[in-house]
Amino acid sequence: MTAYEQRKKTIVENPKVWVITGVAGFIGSNLLETLLQLNQSVIGLDNFATGYQKNLDEVQASVALEQWQRFHFIEGDIRNLDDCYQVCMGADYVLHQAALGSVPRSIKDPIATNETNISGYLNMLTAARDARVTSFTYAASSSTYGDHPALPKVEDAIGKPLSPYAVTKYVNELYAEVFARVYGFKSIGLRYFNIFGKRQDPDGAYAAVIPKWTAAMVKNDDVFVNGDGETSRDFNFIENAVQANILAATTENEDAKNQIYNVAVGDRTTLNELFTAIQSALASNSINFDKSPHYRDFREGDVRHSQADIGKAKRLLGYEPKFNIVQGIAKAMPWYISS
Ligand SMILES: NC(=O)c1ccc[n+]([C@@H]2O[C@H](COP(=O)([O-])OP(=O)(O)OC[C@H]3O[C@@H](n4cnc5c(N)ncnc54)[C@H](O)[C@@H]3O)[C@@H](O)[C@H]2O)c1
Repeated sequence: MTAYEQRKKTIVENPKVWVITGVAGFIGSNLLETLLQLNQSVIGLDNFATGYQKNLDEVQASVALEQWQRFHFIEGDIRNLDDCYQVCMGADYVLHQAALGSVPRSIKDPIATNETNISGYLNMLTAARDARVTSFTYAASSSTYGDHPALPKVEDAIGKPLSPYAVTKYVNELYAEVFARVYGFKSIGLRYFNIFGKRQDPDGAYAAVIPKWTAAMVKNDDVFVNGDGETSRDFNFIENAVQANILAATTENEDAKNQIYNVAVGDRTTLNELFTAIQSALASNSINFDKSPHYRDFREGDVRHSQADIGKAKRLLGYEPKFNIVQGIAKAMPWYISS
């Protein structure tokens, strides 16, 4: 039995109260779905800044009625400290996902990104500390590696941030460390590397590449590549990220706490390779996309290559990603096609 299977068995036998901030978003709603399926109680917080009611509706449709009844949703804002106290009181595990994502959004409006990602984060950290929750796991980001040239990325070697978004995610890590040092409140930061899967928003100026391209190809629209297509990323399927969250939240290994982990697969895929991978996954679903991509300028603030060393998460958390990019795209494809 893997560490993940073992841990799921333990929480099914002894259900807990979880908090998910950003629960109406992509990662939050996938965490919600898995936890409800494991018969956990979940308190969710979201202000619908970038999340959707339809994500919650989809989760409702995928779980049993008695599982759905274990979910309590609060429409609120992490920038409001009272909302943070309200969700944390009585909780066992907090999975803090709420943030304004996207590098370009943060370049356009650094103040908004700062308010949610730093002030909101600090509110949640404080509320979780005061509520004496068992664990606080938060969404960090691979953007923290900034201009550091090393590949693969190892947690301790970071460079200078390349965007306001990256600054906010790095500040989260700094606060986490200081809360451990000053208050003895330990948390775990998960540096996500390009997570993808169902319910990731394909629309809008700040959409991520996989849902954006797939939606365009399904509609036979044009696909645009920022740069020469040789930019590479460690694309990680959502179910691997859900696994990392559950392992981190429930770990009893003291050495694993007050740490940052890369959450990725450990592979590197270029945008050109990604284009071909989506094209062939669509072809397996009888959708043939024959147009060539359009190449345009590189995007400001983007790092050129990204690939994680996931040894630390494997060693200390027992993380074993089950899906590579091709398997993840294949699993997500029916959702992209039907939505
Ligand atoms: N998706 C990725 O590849 C990726 C990579 C690195 C880090 N992350 C981080 O993971 C987390 C989740 O990202 P996602 O991809 O699910 O994005 P998402 O935009 O789908 O989800 C974020 C959720 O947070 C909510 N939210 C935003 N501001 C809020 C506020 N002030 N109060 C309450 N709720 C608020 C949004 O409405 C949304 O539902 C974020 O912290 C993001 O920075 C994601």
